[in-house]
Amino acid sequence: MEFWAMVAHESDGGIVLTKQEVGEEFLGPGEVTIKVHFSSANYKDGLAITPGGGVVRKYPIIPGIDITGEVVSSEDDDFAPGDLVVAHGYDIGVAHHGGYAEYARVPADWVVKLDGLSPRDAAALGTAGFTAALSVQALLDRGLTPEAGAVLVTGATGGVGSVSIDILSGLGYEIVASTGKTDAGDLLSELGANEVIGRLPEDPEAKPRPLTKARWASAVDSVGGKSLAYILSAIGYGGAVAVSGLTGGSDLPTTVMPFILRNVALLGIDSAFVPIEKRRELWTRLGNELRPQHLSTLTQFAPVTDASKVLQSILGGTHTGRTVFSVLGEF
Ligand SMILES: NC(=O)c1ccc[n+]([C@@H]2O[C@H](COP(=O)([O-])OP(=O)(O)OC[C@H]3O[C@@H](n4cnc5c(N)ncnc54)[C@H](OP(=O)(O)O)[C@@H]3O)[C@@H](O)[C@H]2O)c1
Repeated sequence: MEFWAMVAHESDGGIVLTKQEVGEEFLGPGEVTIKVHFSSANYKDGLAITPGGGVVRKYPIIPGIDITGEVVSSEDDDFAPGDLVVAHGYDIGVAHHGGYAEYARVPADWVVKLDGLSPRDAAALGTAGFTAALSVQALLDRGLTPEAGAVLVTGATGGVGSVSIDILSGLGYEIVASTGKTDAGDLLSELGANEVIGRLPEDPEAKPRPLTKARWASAVDSVGGKSLAYILSAIGYGGAVAVSGLTGGSDLPTTVMPFILRNVALLGIDSAFVPIEKRRELWTRLGNELRPQHLSTLTQFAPVTDASKVLQSILGGTHTGRTVFSVLGEF
């Protein structure tokens, strides 16, 4: 079997992503073979083509942590040709060939049948949208209903941030969006933000305080670093922060004060190794009661052959919302 793919190779200390015709050895081990319709651009895909990015174990690899499309063959009875599916996380796109190719093969227990979502919408959500849903679900599980007060969403124009705003607004939350993009106010309001503020802390030179005036009931944070330390100091009694990312750094210069004096919870969010049953359940919720209402507003489309350019904009912090890569018919 031969098919077209975007393959990341190491070259002269850098990493290049090139269009290439490949063979069976570029299908990973697994029972389910998928004709890929769409993939998408995530921060982790950007890291996969960054020297020292720390996510890919071995090159060459087909990146693309999100795969959506149609089953063409399955050695597992749970799947049949024609099933519309999404697969993401686990080793996909980092240690197992991913979605930037005409075909992908994955283990059956990595695959989710789509329920209420098209492959295009599932790619628009992708890992970022699934992470947003995990973050919102973690706040719900902690009992943080809309009555508790405003939710802060950081990295608001990013994939995790923008989908979180969309989901939270559909659930009736008051939302404060924190963004570094001064021209993003209209977009964020359209998604459902009630207030738009800059990146946090507002004064990066000010001496950090263990606790400051309570400003938000909870937060969805994909930025981390000093921003997260500040947010923890400003969450109200009994609140929580669902933390998934590190675009602002991986250090967390905080104290125990928010935890022991305000009963604040720091809720860790990982999307990669969520067990398959929970993953399938949450995708069903994403297609139904958690379904974002403004997916078309926050999504743009590009051919997968443009992946390198789009991923550079993600790494440069200039990308907004979600970019879906169309794969079917693009090679
Ligand atoms: N734990 C998991 O399973 C999981 C899953 C998905 C993603 N992630 C992580 O979550 C983070 C966001 O992912 P994503 O796919 O949403 O990425 P993305 O689409 O590139 O969005 C990241 C956003 O962070 C903000 N940002 C960028 N550089 C920043 C900086 N230096 N300081 C503060 N904010 C900055 C920008 O938003 P504004 O311009 O609006 O401020 C940017 O749009 C990444 O670290 C990613 O690795 C983790």
